[in-house]
Amino acid sequence: MVTFDNGNAATGVTESGGRYFFAVWPEGQVRGAMFEWARSVQADAPARQVAAANLHITLAFLGELAPPQVSAARRVGAETRWNEATLAFDRIGYWRRSRIVWAGSREGSASLSALAEDLRGRLRRLGFRIEERPFVPHVTLYRKAHRMPRWPRVRLEWRIEEFCLVESRLATDGTRYSVVDRWSANDDMK
Ligand code: 2AM
Repeated sequence: MVTFDNGNAATGVTESGGRYFFAVWPEGQVRGAMFEWARSVQADAPARQVAAANLHITLAFLGELAPPQVSAARRVGAETRWNEATLAFDRIGYWRRSRIVWAGSREGSASLSALAEDLRGRLRRLGFRIEERPFVPHVTLYRKAHRMPRWPRVRLEWRIEEFCLVESRLATDGTRYSVVDRWSANDDMK
């Protein structure tokens, strides 16, 4: 049996402050299609499927922030110049260390990778501690998975026109995400 999980409860968000990250969130149609694709994946019994509303790609994870750092992160978002991106999801991956099953893209998107690397670079220069591993665009579909699942071949196109800064807080029924701010692609770069 597969049960729902709102997010990564294991990361231990405290009452005092939320964790923040830059992310892209799919609009309704893509979100529904991705959720259905995830449901058709044959994950193992302990695996917990991520709720449709929580499906996203993390661009840069910031961790717990004090209010002045949140303001600095919002300025970074507001100053970002980027092109719309299209990402074709066509594969499922499994990371044993984090025990997640994720949806990914063979081709990737140069525009989305440029956005993530640009954000990460500017955040690092401002003193934010950002992981050094290269950006691998992925949507976490299951947590607490113990093996690579069997999955049906699908191709799902996601047009990305907006990115956001999100706060994650632990609630009794799982992790709650709330959008702090959002930014559209720059018209003059289309
Ligand atoms: P994941 O889905 O691959 O686990 C909110 O928790 C988002 O931030 C999730 O998308 C999660 O990625 C990512 N995240 C959580 N902790 C992280 C960390 N320490 N470093 C990088 N990304 C992290």
